[in-house]
Amino acid sequence: MSNSMLRTKPVERILGEAAGHQGGLKRVLTAVDLTAIGVGAIIGAGIFVLTGTAARDAAGPSIMLSYVFAGFACILAALCYAEFATRLPISGSAYTYAYASVGELFAWIIGWDLILEYTIGSSTVAVGWTHYLSEFLGGFNLVVPDFLLAWHVGPLTINLSAAILVFLLTILLCIGIKESSRFNALMVIIKLSVVLFVIFAGTPWVRPAHWHPFFPYGFGGIFKGAALIFFAYIGFDAVSTAAEEVKNPQRDLPIGIITSLVICTLLYVAVSAVITGMVPFKQIDAGAPLAAAFGSVGNHLAQRLIGLGGFVGLTTVVLILLMSQPRIYFAMARDGLLLPWFAKVHPRFRTPMNASIVTGLIAAVMAASVPMSDLHHMVSIGTLFAFVVVSASVLIMRYKTEDRPEQSVLTVLQLALGLGIFCVGLARDFSGSLQWAQWLSLVLGGVIALKPVVQLFSWKPVNLPSTFKCPWVPAVPIIAMGANMYMMVNLNLDAWIRLVVWLVVGMAIYLLYGRSHSKLARPVESQESEPTG
Ligand code: ALA
Repeated sequence: MSNSMLRTKPVERILGEAAGHQGGLKRVLTAVDLTAIGVGAIIGAGIFVLTGTAARDAAGPSIMLSYVFAGFACILAALCYAEFATRLPISGSAYTYAYASVGELFAWIIGWDLILEYTIGSSTVAVGWTHYLSEFLGGFNLVVPDFLLAWHVGPLTINLSAAILVFLLTILLCIGIKESSRFNALMVIIKLSVVLFVIFAGTPWVRPAHWHPFFPYGFGGIFKGAALIFFAYIGFDAVSTAAEEVKNPQRDLPIGIITSLVICTLLYVAVSAVITGMVPFKQIDAGAPLAAAFGSVGNHLAQRLIGLGGFVGLTTVVLILLMSQPRIYFAMARDGLLLPWFAKVHPRFRTPMNASIVTGLIAAVMAASVPMSDLHHMVSIGTLFAFVVVSASVLIMRYKTEDRPEQSVLTVLQLALGLGIFCVGLARDFSGSLQWAQWLSLVLGGVIALKPVVQLFSWKPVNLPSTFKCPWVPAVPIIAMGANMYMMVNLNLDAWIRLVVWLVVGMAIYLLYGRSHSKLARPVESQESEPTG
């Protein structure tokens, strides 16, 4: 059993199977489309909604540094994604990267985990979108009928408008990626203009006195805030799921991933500085912090414009997250870990239509019926987990040689364990009599992590990619693992429990289906032909 779980799929085989997939996806996207996809997925509920609570209750004005820290951690993870995206320009993203490096069980777990990011993420943002729908229409004195927002059917309260949004965007995604990408580009221009407007129109209202005290919740508030607003950065990795639809993936994927993230990091830091400078942090609005900041200085036109930005901004996030999920199912089904039906491409539209419809149905039902208020923590923890695995996979890939096939995996797993224990010691508040436990975590974690760190620095990298290389390996992936784990341990216990339950369910499905149906479990010649539409 352990053999099947640790079996990896050679890079050449992954690339060969994708190339041989008859009637595959259509290669139409450029670097500009990819950057727009990245920005489309990134700027949304995080900046338009969550900044308020994070600044008010966790970080105060130092929320700017929370954005810097989370952005830094994401940029390191993005460099790892970019290296893998050029090695393996395959729609499975982190799932495929783990398959090529750590092994099948881990790959499955990550594929399963990405459902948290993409499906639950899209439902969460769709629910947030309905608030901006009301805000936007309210600017024109229009009211959204009650039954669209909260339709009472027996004991259930259904958010029909969120489900309708998911339904319409799913239709668009079934028709074509180029059409979806054009629609996205237009919306991205609008939302970028609104974000720039917030920065430029808000700057004259900034009162530096509002930035004092800068750390009202202590230095640790920066990291609590970072864990909360991490959600705002989710989405740059969605670019990598479009890999099989890119004209020149080796060149354009790193450009799309890194450019979109850098643009958004700069904008986020600027917006959070402006908002905390306009409004004393205790008075920042929890629901619509950007619009309310302008309302508080009497600029109601700006308030309306921001309503438009939020409405449009959140639409593109839902669109891109809904676009990414089916591409993960598609890659998993092609490998035999899901029913082959998910890997069918529509003969005319050349989109993964079956997988898109299933994604849309699940996301619509969830958006309509599940109260989403704290699910964003679950989305964040799932995404952070994927970032840690991708960073670890870069290390494994770079140092794996034929004479030590498993040693690099074990070394990186030991590193992850040590970093995890160290981060717990760093983040958790062990006051009073429990202080010894904090020291124990720091020392124990440090000791466990030290050996693999020394080991990795002493090994010579062997598998250098020919195109984009993550710089300063092993330092960058190690710091990426540590920084993203640190945000994970700053999230609440509920999020951890949900993550663990979710992964255990995933593991059971793998054992019951994926392990025996995996194409790696069968000799190459006995494999059935690739499914087509
Ligand atoms: N980053 C996306 C948002 O903030 C998920 O809505």
